[in-house]
Amino acid sequence: MPSSSHAPVVVYGAYGHTGRFVVDELLRRGLTPILSGRDETRLEAMLDGRPDLEIRPARTDEPEALAGALAGAGAVVNVAGPFLDTALPVSQAAIAAGVHYLDVTAEQPAVEAVYAARSRDAAAAGVAVVPAMAFYGGLADLLTTAVLAGTTEPASVTVAVGLDRWWPTAGTRVTGSRNPARRQVVADGRLTPLADPAPTGTWHFPTAFGEQPVVAVPFSEPILLARHLPLTAVDSFLTTSALTDVRSPDTPPPSPEDADGRSAQQFVVDVVAQVGDETRRITTTGRDIYAVSAPLVVEAAIRLLDGRATGTGVGAPGELFDAEDFLRALTPGTLSLRRGPVAEDVGTRAR
Ligand SMILES: NC(=O)c1ccc[n+]([C@@H]2O[C@H](COP(=O)([O-])OP(=O)(O)OC[C@H]3O[C@@H](n4cnc5c(N)ncnc54)[C@H](OP(=O)(O)O)[C@@H]3O)[C@@H](O)[C@H]2O)c1
Repeated sequence: MPSSSHAPVVVYGAYGHTGRFVVDELLRRGLTPILSGRDETRLEAMLDGRPDLEIRPARTDEPEALAGALAGAGAVVNVAGPFLDTALPVSQAAIAAGVHYLDVTAEQPAVEAVYAARSRDAAAAGVAVVPAMAFYGGLADLLTTAVLAGTTEPASVTVAVGLDRWWPTAGTRVTGSRNPARRQVVADGRLTPLADPAPTGTWHFPTAFGEQPVVAVPFSEPILLARHLPLTAVDSFLTTSALTDVRSPDTPPPSPEDADGRSAQQFVVDVVAQVGDETRRITTTGRDIYAVSAPLVVEAAIRLLDGRATGTGVGAPGELFDAEDFLRALTPGTLSLRRGPVAEDVGTRAR
């Protein structure tokens, strides 16, 4: 079983944009990454300047190669998307190898497929399977869990994501076109198809973003949240300009603008929860949604390896980890965090 906090961590899709951030973050945190993915040439190129690292090429349709790639590891971080193509085979190999599995999917059907296919086997094998441990999905799940701490009352939650720009990677574009499924929200306590057309409105971010036009765009967070919190509603909004960016074929990919390779993109995630008569709010800001996914997923991998997870099987971040402690560990270096106040006009006004 993957119990050692020093066990190596396989990065599947290591040479992708997000994969490179994950490899760097593992090294920064003192862990040993093993570089995996389907393109041996691109894996070999990553050894330039890092000859001590190990590469283990494997395709997702080669179970034996995948098993070999995971042998002796403590966890695998799958950053190869579309996850509709990779999450099931990589998570299956992880469970068979007794290795914790994490991915960074924003795709709702990929998370649902992992829950449906892996819950029993992961629990039986004593490993944790954590889909969507990233900016979209896991971060909102942790924030919501933290803001609802101390209550078991049913709550309704709005997650508003503000991006000043969205420069999409090739992987984001391919993943978007691979997944035609209608998005889901939580309404009346159940996962429900998003209204068509998607609701729009205005959101008052309590940061420099200020008031912004937003449109309902749920990512993987409602699927995670519906699994472990008593929520009557989960609504997710994104700044309309960011959706325009990602939909435009002319928007360039992210370019490195600092020493860590992060783009200049700024983000805010604002979670407002209604619990009975009480309104609670938690807000986080940071830089570069791809780069920030690396400290998020690596922090989770470390907590799985050193025994700070509260269970096994398929689980949401807020279910498996102490959400408050997790977020604090990334503050202030990676994320800023603030709570309240909640202005009366915080909500989105549907047009
Ligand atoms: N939830 C979030 O907040 C979040 C954050 C970051 C990234 N993501 C997601 O993570 C994925 C990767 O993003 P990225 O920015 O790193 O994109 P990227 O730079 O284009 O990298 C994509 C990676 O996935 C690999 N890949 C794709 N299909 C594969 C398959 N069938 N088998 C094996 N490998 C495969 C690619 O390998 P090849 O070059 O060999 O095709 C490459 O290594 C996307 O789905 C993106 O949406 C989500």
